[in-house]
Amino acid sequence: MRVLLGIGGGIAAYKAAEIVRQLRAGGHEVRCAPTRRAQAFVAPLTLEVLSGRALLTEAYLEPGTGGHEEHIEAAAWADLLCVAPATADLLARLSLGIADDVLTTTALAFEGPWVVAPAMHARMWAQRQVQEHVERLRARGVRLVGPVHGPLASGELGWGRMAESAEIVAAVEGAHLPGPLAGRAVVVSAGPTHEPIDPVRYLGNRSSGRMGFAIAAEAARRGARVTLVAGPVSLATPSGLRRVDVETAEQMRGAVIEAARGADLVVMAAAVADFRPREVAAAKIKKTGAPPPPIPVEPTADILTELAAVAPEALRVGFAAETGDLVSEALAKLERKRADLVVANDVGAPGIGFGSAENEVTIFRRAGEPVFVSRRPKEEVAQVLLDLVTQELAARAAPPTARR
Ligand SMILES: Cc1cc2nc3c(=O)[nH]c(=O)nc-3n(C[C@H](O)[C@H](O)[C@H](O)COP(=O)(O)O)c2cc1C
Repeated sequence: MRVLLGIGGGIAAYKAAEIVRQLRAGGHEVRCAPTRRAQAFVAPLTLEVLSGRALLTEAYLEPGTGGHEEHIEAAAWADLLCVAPATADLLARLSLGIADDVLTTTALAFEGPWVVAPAMHARMWAQRQVQEHVERLRARGVRLVGPVHGPLASGELGWGRMAESAEIVAAVEGAHLPGPLAGRAVVVSAGPTHEPIDPVRYLGNRSSGRMGFAIAAEAARRGARVTLVAGPVSLATPSGLRRVDVETAEQMRGAVIEAARGADLVVMAAAVADFRPREVAAAKIKKTGAPPPPIPVEPTADILTELAAVAPEALRVGFAAETGDLVSEALAKLERKRADLVVANDVGAPGIGFGSAENEVTIFRRAGEPVFVSRRPKEEVAQVLLDLVTQELAARAAPPTARR
């Protein structure tokens, strides 16, 4: 693939060199277009050497180009435009169609897919005007990657850090090809639910939502139309999907069931509360010195089981977060909830499962042997799961006579 890499004048510009290296290592051709200000942050010679091509810079306005319209030629050459880092300034100019330098002029002349990785201080990122530009780009089909939460150049922590180079490269690779899940409607639930006890307290669990978010991101990367139903979590929305935020099990049930009608795949990765307080106190329950009042609970609805009736055609994937006998619990869940796959993880084991960045799971299948996925980042677990799911969906799409 031929990637035109626009580089904005932010501190993260130095990371563009690594993006060029990774894209080249992946067999792609890269032409870099650093803005005038970006050239103060990353040496043009570095980019030129790593990409092995002349840069696309303001020199295009100088006499001596032999009458070539470099912006038109560069736009015709590229298969994909990636802008990383995208400064607040570039986001605004790209979103409004301003063409006042070679990068934005080329962008206007370019007809292929865009991948944009914003990077700026958290307070800039939070500004309404910046978000409006982002929304406008997203609505136009631009694939946004990040920013992520982390240390900023100022030394503060916050949202605004550019996504990792590998994630940007993965988005570039995913954006260009029509993905294996193109045209598929996918619903993923993620995170915990909070069941209110009184106006300030709730029953909850330790789910961080990371596993479900990784699955949703991976499905979007593979071309699916993804609805991510998220419980209360502090995670950024992955690019290229629709997110619905909910709080309670009942709200999650409503949102998942609505989105699941007509879906091809539903992955229930959320740790939905099994019980909720039977009544929610109207006022905060006070500490009086007397024994605290009991909190009677009642079961919540079982969303995965209900999905068998709501989305009978969909491939349905459940999660079994267990601390006991993983195998028998997962197999029972597969049967009882009429799921096609159950991903079982031992949430009692240290370093994996709830709240951590890694997971180790066994994927039980109605139509095949269990698959053990050894400990690895949740993003990679998501890839293995989606490989299996993609295979199953492809098998289902076979002519009716070939269906199982
Ligand atoms: C040290 C320094 C760091 C900067 N970092 C960022 C940044 O990370 N993100 C951003 O949007 N702007 C940043 N700016 C501001 C941009 O350089 C400025 O808005 C500029 O007009 C961007 O131009 P460009 O988008 O054409 O490259 C920084 C400025 C300085 C001096």
